[in-house]
Amino acid sequence: MTTVLPAAPLVFPAGFRWGAATAAYQIEGAVAVGGRAPSIWDTFSHTPGKVHAGDSGDVATDHYHRYREDVALMSELGLQAYRFSLSWPRIQPTGRGPALEAGLDFYRRLVDELLTAGIEPVATLYHWDLPQELEDLGGWPARETAERFGAYAQLAADALGDRVKLWTTLNEPWCSAFLGYGSGVHAPGRTDPAGALRAAHHLNLAHGRAVSALRAALPADARISVTLNLHQVRARSTDPADLDAARRIDAVGNRVFTGPLLGGGYPEDLRADTAHLVDWQALVRPGDEAAIAAPIDLLGINYYTPTLVSAPPEGAHHSPRDAARDDAHGASDHSPWPGSEHVLFHRPPGEVTAMNWAIDPSGLYDLITEVARANPGLPLMITENGAAFEDTLTPDGEVLDPERIAYLHAHLTAVHRAIAEGADVRGYFLWSLLDNFEWSYGYAKRFGAVYVDYPTQRRIPKASAHWYATAARSNAIPP
Ligand code: NOJ
Repeated sequence: MTTVLPAAPLVFPAGFRWGAATAAYQIEGAVAVGGRAPSIWDTFSHTPGKVHAGDSGDVATDHYHRYREDVALMSELGLQAYRFSLSWPRIQPTGRGPALEAGLDFYRRLVDELLTAGIEPVATLYHWDLPQELEDLGGWPARETAERFGAYAQLAADALGDRVKLWTTLNEPWCSAFLGYGSGVHAPGRTDPAGALRAAHHLNLAHGRAVSALRAALPADARISVTLNLHQVRARSTDPADLDAARRIDAVGNRVFTGPLLGGGYPEDLRADTAHLVDWQALVRPGDEAAIAAPIDLLGINYYTPTLVSAPPEGAHHSPRDAARDDAHGASDHSPWPGSEHVLFHRPPGEVTAMNWAIDPSGLYDLITEVARANPGLPLMITENGAAFEDTLTPDGEVLDPERIAYLHAHLTAVHRAIAEGADVRGYFLWSLLDNFEWSYGYAKRFGAVYVDYPTQRRIPKASAHWYATAARSNAIPP
């Protein structure tokens, strides 16, 4: 008779942080409270045809009014850290001038509530909600926006630096630049490849300005990070043309950020691929790369699905629409990949989530190990990972989501393996704490560990939330 021994639980290193993440516009609501002015996402979501079903963040999960209840929920779920974002237009409505105390007070109250509950606050300065007034002055393609961001970072650090120890400058600047100004599926909805590249540089510069402002204003024990959605780019074959397609997407998807942020400057191949769009010499001024390379203490990585590409078949004429169609970043007639519009995107084989994103935890393992190898000594954090599925309430008022549990199990196993092989990963943040406003998909996609019944705003932890609580409490993946 053979005995099947239960698998040993995969235990994480002591001090590994188990958290959940959200973003201001996706959860707060209260868009006209306390002097907050519109951001580009208020404008975009109120523009007909931009967001599924005309949804907006006007009410969202009403977290602005329910933050106490939400922190209590985090406690119940055993979370040790909470990653949230500060709404720039709630703190500095026009993107210029003094801070609004009412806005800062909301974040002071939230952070105090977290600290009382023993939950570490992780604050992101920018999760896509640019004050509309700054967009009207040129937005991210304008250099001045980077300078404004530095000043805003200073205001936030002065007000919250006594209680927030871990700061993130930007969340996924790739999306801000290339979905916001390239494909136009995100706010402000512009479709200008040259503007998108300019936006990328100014986001990098904004990060650099914010790092120096934060360093000057924060106590010595504060840590500063940036969060990137690094694409795990894979070529469909080893054909040189396909490998070159992967190189191009790696350049404009990853190295456009990791190059300058981590001290290597803008890659030569990126400059060459996009030379017809921007004059890099004029765009990147003397001193910019040094400012952007200001040392960080930790790199945040968001991962959902790998990116599979190929070159277009020889002689074929593919429009940008063909190139963008199968991309994981939303349908648009315009490509979010300036200079590489003709690369073809394919859905990797296997199961998909409700976003139609392939489920492939090997992408997370590969990403972590590659970044860790390339950057020895730089601690990493998985600042987002998770999945949307078609969640429904059972007649008993439960949400049973075994697919999400399987997704989390597989991806946490990938993180564990990377750590076991030497990667320095300090924590994992589930996206998301709550179902919320999923950008151009509105409320149709549910990423939460906690179900939100929008008409009543009732919060109902899904089965995956209970599973994740067990993981967080035991610092191990439940078998
Ligand atoms: C990344 C973004 O940071 C977050 O805002 C978004 O909701 C998730 N991905 C899921 O798409």
